[in-house]
Amino acid sequence: MSDFSVRRLRSDEERAATDLFRRALHAKEMTDEEWSAIAPSMQPDRGFGAFDHELIGTLRSFDSEVTLPGGGVTPLAAVSLVGVRADRTRRGVLTGLMRAQFEDFAARGVPAAMLHASEGAIYGRFGYGVAVRAKSIEVDRHRARFRPEAPAGGQISLLDLESTVEQWPSLFDALPRTRPGMIARSPHLWPGYERELRRATTPVTTAVHRGQDGVDGYVTYTVERAHFGAPTLLKIQSFHYASPDAFAGLWRYLLSVDLVDRITAEKRPLDEPVELLFTDPRHVTVQKIQDEGWLRLVDVERMLGARTYLGEPVVIEVTDPFLEHNSGRYRLSEDGAVRTTDPADLELHADTLSMVYLGGWRPSDLAAVGRVRATGTAALERADLLFGTRVNPWCGTFF
Ligand SMILES: CC(C)(COP(=O)(O)OP(=O)(O)OC[C@H]1O[C@@H](n2cnc3c(N)ncnc32)[C@H](O)[C@@H]1OP(=O)(O)O)[C@@H](O)C(=O)NCCC(=O)NCCS
Repeated sequence: MSDFSVRRLRSDEERAATDLFRRALHAKEMTDEEWSAIAPSMQPDRGFGAFDHELIGTLRSFDSEVTLPGGGVTPLAAVSLVGVRADRTRRGVLTGLMRAQFEDFAARGVPAAMLHASEGAIYGRFGYGVAVRAKSIEVDRHRARFRPEAPAGGQISLLDLESTVEQWPSLFDALPRTRPGMIARSPHLWPGYERELRRATTPVTTAVHRGQDGVDGYVTYTVERAHFGAPTLLKIQSFHYASPDAFAGLWRYLLSVDLVDRITAEKRPLDEPVELLFTDPRHVTVQKIQDEGWLRLVDVERMLGARTYLGEPVVIEVTDPFLEHNSGRYRLSEDGAVRTTDPADLELHADTLSMVYLGGWRPSDLAAVGRVRATGTAALERADLLFGTRVNPWCGTFF
């Protein structure tokens, strides 16, 4: 490990840290104008820097909260802007930054963290696991026809760019975050979203759905074409709803927009049944399935106790080399989670525990690839039921 120290960033160092992150992602340095737009996104006291004789690495987080299986909500750190200068990589700088950040989370009583990873090989060693996966889909607008029993939907009204910018936070905040893994949007996130919207080269439109009880969903999109003669794509930027009626009603609206060949939506919940709205489900194709959210249980005992379980008890033995205090055995049952000295039914590492925690993977599937060790199939069947959730997890928020 090379000689460097890690400390909290001062506010006058935030711009250099953001530029360092951008350089690490091969993006250009910010102009003064860009920094003025981005600066409000920086939640004070949440950035860390690694220094030798100058800044060589950084990461930060936003305060949030996350929905858990069973409907509970717990504080969450949304980790972002992770980067190490290209001439200082692979000498432990990120490892030092991660340690400092976890210590900060523990000191502030934040039991979990989530991030979106640029590469899949980086974060497992720090105890993060792929807890949420998502699919990208494409709908053939000319051929997709609604089944007769698909909900009719309610009233649609349209917002332009300025109204979208103004109303996005209240539209999002008013909808329940029902799926495990959904997070609250910190006020610090909205300036970045506004910036993205304003960079669109074609008009931004939001369709707001109003059902019997008022506004219960919205979809924001742009319509683009790569070049003359190419198919016209309606690209969904954001799609949230609180009822089956809003889900179907907004899709009905999207298919009614003229001069569109295909509709694309990225990072949707794995079990969102868009294709089942249509007479021929093959007019919806899944383009990609990818990891959406990497979860870290910073305080394993607290997080295991914060979600609900179904079925017969299971004892798990967790190994957590990066946050050793989490290592140990826990008895999980419908009554909750407690530390125990009973023999373990299942053994797994902290990153694998993160993968099963929100219900995104079954313990038996992880056992099949050697990531969970179990006393037998009976224990795995109990664990599958215990960790299972009614719906797939989804984050639905980029940060
Ligand atoms: C990813 C990044 C932050 C890692 O920083 P770093 O200081 O090199 O990481 P560390 O030296 O602490 O690495 C710790 C371990 O992870 C491994 N590792 C780190 N980044 C890795 C990567 N991208 N792929 C594979 N392994 C990686 C290291 O080899 C090291 O392994 P070891 O302990 O067995 O030697 C840095 O490479 C970077 O800035 N990349 C470009 C920007 C980026 O992708 N940021 C992440 C945004 S989510």
